[in-house]
Amino acid sequence: MGANDLRSTALAMVADGKGILAADESTGTAGKRLEAVNIESTDESRRDYRELLFTTPGLGDYISGAILYDETIRSETSDGRQMTKALEDNGVMPGIKVDTGAQPLAMAEGEKVTEGLDGLRDRLAEYAEMGARFTKWRGVIHIEGDLPSDYCIAVNAHALGRYAALAQEAGLVPIVEPEVEIVGDHTLERCYEVTEKTLREVFAQLALQRVDLEGIILKPNMVIAGKEAEKQSSVEEVAEATIDCLKKTVPAAVPGICFLSGGQTPEQATAHLDAMNRMGPHPWVISFSYARALQDPVLKTWKGEKSNWDAAQEALAHRAKLNSAAAEGAYSTDMEQS
Ligand code: 13P
Repeated sequence: MGANDLRSTALAMVADGKGILAADESTGTAGKRLEAVNIESTDESRRDYRELLFTTPGLGDYISGAILYDETIRSETSDGRQMTKALEDNGVMPGIKVDTGAQPLAMAEGEKVTEGLDGLRDRLAEYAEMGARFTKWRGVIHIEGDLPSDYCIAVNAHALGRYAALAQEAGLVPIVEPEVEIVGDHTLERCYEVTEKTLREVFAQLALQRVDLEGIILKPNMVIAGKEAEKQSSVEEVAEATIDCLKKTVPAAVPGICFLSGGQTPEQATAHLDAMNRMGPHPWVISFSYARALQDPVLKTWKGEKSNWDAAQEALAHRAKLNSAAAEGAYSTDMEQS
């Protein structure tokens, strides 16, 4: 696959107000999410849940791609189709998380580095063979006191560069996800400072490692006060600070920016996305790649009961539709009720 194919896939990922459904929770994280609504996490319940998500009627009208975890990309729906096939049948491109998680960073108390580079070239080739069109790698930057260190930002940006170059070599669009976490009591200004520094380092590494910026999707955090901060940010403050920060750091060659939700409520994540798009036009398409902000209402509705299956799928289609409207700056809170 050449540069043109990568670019057309990246453009398709953010076309027509569509965004991405992140459903790539590791087995452990998926277990926590299921257990939070009293569903026992088993191979079967995780498979059923992913099938519920991916076979939601009309999903492809609002969602361009779904990010899968290794366990899911190897699994089948109850009617015997590969999950990748079920997605394609629904008009959604399959993607795959390829990092193996964040581990404690040596000599840096309280900080993490994302692992998964060893053997990555072979794993990417296998995923491409299985039908994946794009990939994801998440680096985690934590704010607390003097943290993050320059060291933590540098090693995570370097790993994102290594990953992105290998993904493009394999013909897969890399979603580059440097997440400055919302956890903590920091101000919006502190989040801005750390996000700016992180994005500068990430784009320096992508350039150094010869990544084609037209063939990536950036998945950043929004610039927002910490969850425990005394002063919480307004929708306008988040939208203005985030766009300002991105304009300073993200080259216009990048086709799309798809935000993570990071612990915001579904309604907040949609309102912030909408406010940013109302400030446009921007150099890049601005859309979403949410996990919790799309899935929370689905899990709460499903509760593991067959009788709630249709209602849970409707909850996903509804949230996806609202975020798709927000990706075009056409959302209003009245639509929450419809
Ligand atoms: P959230 O939207 O729940 O932050 O998840 C996005 C994601 O893919 C994290 O890597």
